Amino acid sequence: MAPLIGLITCSQRTPRAGPQVSSFIHKTILQSYPTADISTVDLAEWNLPMYNEPGIPAYITSSDQYVHEHTKAWSREIARYDAFIFVTPQYNWGYPASIKNAIDYLFFEWKEKPALIVSYGGHGGGKAAAQLRQVMEGIRMKPLERMVALTFPGVENATKAVKGEDLGLDSEEGFWAGEREGIREAFGELVSATEGKNE
Ligand SMILES: Cc1cc2nc3c(=O)[nH]c(=O)nc-3n(C[C@H](O)[C@H](O)[C@H](O)COP(=O)(O)O)c2cc1C
Repeated sequence: MAPLIGLITCSQRTPRAGPQVSSFIHKTILQSYPTADISTVDLAEWNLPMYNEPGIPAYITSSDQYVHEHTKAWSREIARYDAFIFVTPQYNWGYPASIKNAIDYLFFEWKEKPALIVSYGGHGGGKAAAQLRQVMEGIRMKPLERMVALTFPGVENATKAVKGEDLGLDSEEGFWAGEREGIREAFGELVSATEGKNE
């Protein structure tokens, strides 16, 4: 059975580029892996409050043990995935608060699961990716060595991204067309990292 992959859109402002970047990643993967089982998890739709559980998630072993309904629902959502693709922008040399907040709510649901980090920004978002990777190690996830860093070329495209305007990513001539192969290879590594977990 194909592993179930959660594709997490990490930004949640309005407007934003995040959903079209996630969609580009999703479609790129499906071109080579048409049977891949990938569900989008949009943090803007979840809109979790700032962390407000009374306890420490590392001591929780089932979704029912959380106090708040939003945490129980978030826990059940994340627990069902075998691995994740985090699609994150870079904000001020780091990742957005939205993804740190969403991560902090849980622990066992993330533990031991492989993750691919896809970052984007004016320079590829490498600083956000490196910081996110360190946090993943703290919650005992298994981030892939390989990451995908997507750069908005030129001020014009960076400006479009900030405004959430269409970046034309799905076109064969889109500015990230040359990144597709690397994305597919990285996805292949993510699937390999889950092997043995679904037997
Ligand atoms: C608060 C904020 C901080 C930003 N900081 C950076 C940065 O440090 N490096 C960078 O390359 N781009 C930076 N950007 C530009 C973002 O890469 C770009 O706006 C992108 O569209 C943000 O993703 P989003 O639209 O999904 O929120 C920043 C944007 C915002 C809103």
